[in-house]
Amino acid sequence: MFSEPLTIADLQRRAKWRVPKMFYDYADSGAWTESTYRANESDFGKVKLRQRVLVDMTNRSLETTMIGEKVSMPVALAPTGLCGMQHADGEILAAQAAEAAGVPFTLSTMSVCSIEDVAEHTTKPFWFQLYVMKDRDFVGNLIDRAKATGCSALVLTLDLQILGQRHKDLINGLSTPPKFTPKHVWQVATRPFWALEMLQTKRHTFRNIAGHAKGVSDLSSLSVWTAEQFDPKLSWDDVVWIKERWGGKLILKGILDAEDAKMAARTGADAIIVSNHGGRQLDGARSSISVLPEIVDAVGSEIEIHMDGGIRSGQDVLKAKALGAQGVYIGRPFLYGLGAMGKKGVTRALDIIRKELDTTMALCGERNINEIGHQIIAKADFD
Ligand code: FNR
Repeated sequence: MFSEPLTIADLQRRAKWRVPKMFYDYADSGAWTESTYRANESDFGKVKLRQRVLVDMTNRSLETTMIGEKVSMPVALAPTGLCGMQHADGEILAAQAAEAAGVPFTLSTMSVCSIEDVAEHTTKPFWFQLYVMKDRDFVGNLIDRAKATGCSALVLTLDLQILGQRHKDLINGLSTPPKFTPKHVWQVATRPFWALEMLQTKRHTFRNIAGHAKGVSDLSSLSVWTAEQFDPKLSWDDVVWIKERWGGKLILKGILDAEDAKMAARTGADAIIVSNHGGRQLDGARSSISVLPEIVDAVGSEIEIHMDGGIRSGQDVLKAKALGAQGVYIGRPFLYGLGAMGKKGVTRALDIIRKELDTTMALCGERNINEIGHQIIAKADFD
């Protein structure tokens, strides 16, 4: 029915066929009109590369570092909530695929599998993404759990003090508390492979939270607690508190403004991620790739800069690298792989991106990812 997936779009089509609509839509959705979500992807088309010829293209290398950690290419898996709903045990499978591929995996606070679940099924340290909840005891405890399981970096998300509105989720009834209607039963019944795999795992809720947060006893109280806990008062002082409590490598995620980037650099964090949450928060915000150059100008000499949003090919990775990102993250591309084919699909997504990155780099006349810079850009006009 489907031919071998050659692109991330091929994996997306398969995921749509395999994953129940409400969860496929949850991944493939942006806030409001989705204009920022679309711009994240389409703005990569505004960057034109320089083709070079007759350069020795043998012995190429994509190896580099992100926050000092060796990576086989400058691509990490972004933290994504409910990843375990694209495929049973999704976070464990994605972490294993990332480990085998030599790239970082970032586990979301809002994951289905817990920090401990993922640690139990992997052998190398992964990164943990933190949402700051109002219940600071819970937050402190999460940080301690991430430390105890050996996570090697904390990714602190700054752009979700309140939740952006995603119409597809509302239409699909992904609500608080969850209501199961005949529509949901139908959506699951028409995705039998997904459903069978789900029946075989015991991991179905937010396991970082269930059993750890006060007053959470069942699915309903869990979802109410979660929805009420995002903290609109989050401030730069909290960042300082978290940095001290954590004591390890810290990455600040969700910077889209040069002034905020300067504040972030002052905290002494190890890196920032230029990100608009994959277009899921402020609709009308600029695309990540179009903001990247000015953030690099503002703080590139002070702090390592990463970016995410809209990366759908290895060519996009190279463009971000050329515009100053030390590394990038992919969200939906690996979720589509996961939904389409489980762990194999995440591996496939990473293989597709690696091959495209390598070929594009070679055709730009370059052999070493660490030497990629503005010299490969013919034009980057975002106006
Ligand atoms: C996200 N993102 C996200 N970010 C975060 O810090 N914590 C989270 O729990 C989530 N959850 C989440 C769920 C889903 C389904 C998506 C698609 C995204 C944002 C994510 O980390 C990243 O910023 C974007 O996904 C990057 O954009 P692309 O690669 O999806 O275009």
